[in-house]
Amino acid sequence: MKRVAILISGGGSNMMSLAESMTGDHPARPCLVLSNVPSAGGLQKAADMGIPTAVVDHKPFKGDRAAFDAALIAAIDDARPDIICLAGFMRILTPEFIDHYAGRMLNIHPSLLPKYKGLHTHQRAIDAADTEAGCSVHEVTAELDGGPILAQARVPILPSDTADTLAARVLPKEHLIYPETLRRFMEGDRSFRVY
Ligand code: GAR
Repeated sequence: MKRVAILISGGGSNMMSLAESMTGDHPARPCLVLSNVPSAGGLQKAADMGIPTAVVDHKPFKGDRAAFDAALIAAIDDARPDIICLAGFMRILTPEFIDHYAGRMLNIHPSLLPKYKGLHTHQRAIDAADTEAGCSVHEVTAELDGGPILAQARVPILPSDTADTLAARVLPKEHLIYPETLRRFMEGDRSFRVY
């Protein structure tokens, strides 16, 4: 049975969809939910599901990314994961961290990559008068939101949309494609799929 560590910063709805998928004949189980935000709502949800949790607060590191990432690696490796899933983890990771988990780390991003890497993706899609938005699951490489894309789902952008209404339309698609893609990834399937 493979072990999956899930990194979060917030409510953890993607973490929940991943964790809920890892049952029955699934080849993996969640071994850790870790947050850089002590108050992240997802921590309690993970604990309620019986998943070990950890916090590595970035604040005491005062911008020393190398030291923060070293502490992160120590906490993650303690749980001996095979795969790392970033699920709304809102810290930029150092190349050393990414190298340490090369080939075994996935991320979900709320845009149709390569469009709108970084933050405020939905507002940027609306401002650009795009007619479609969506989400992408990709392998994590040193380039921010730039690794090989494994899956995307698309939704329409309506004339009345705000960033919040669009986010609410995209999020259920995230919950669909992330567990599917994790499972395919664990089976060695690196092909690109559109949902
Ligand atoms: C999700 O929309 C995810 O795609 C996004 O944060 C949200 C987390 O929600 N991730 C990023 O923006 C990464 N740059 P959740 O905590 O409910 O899963």
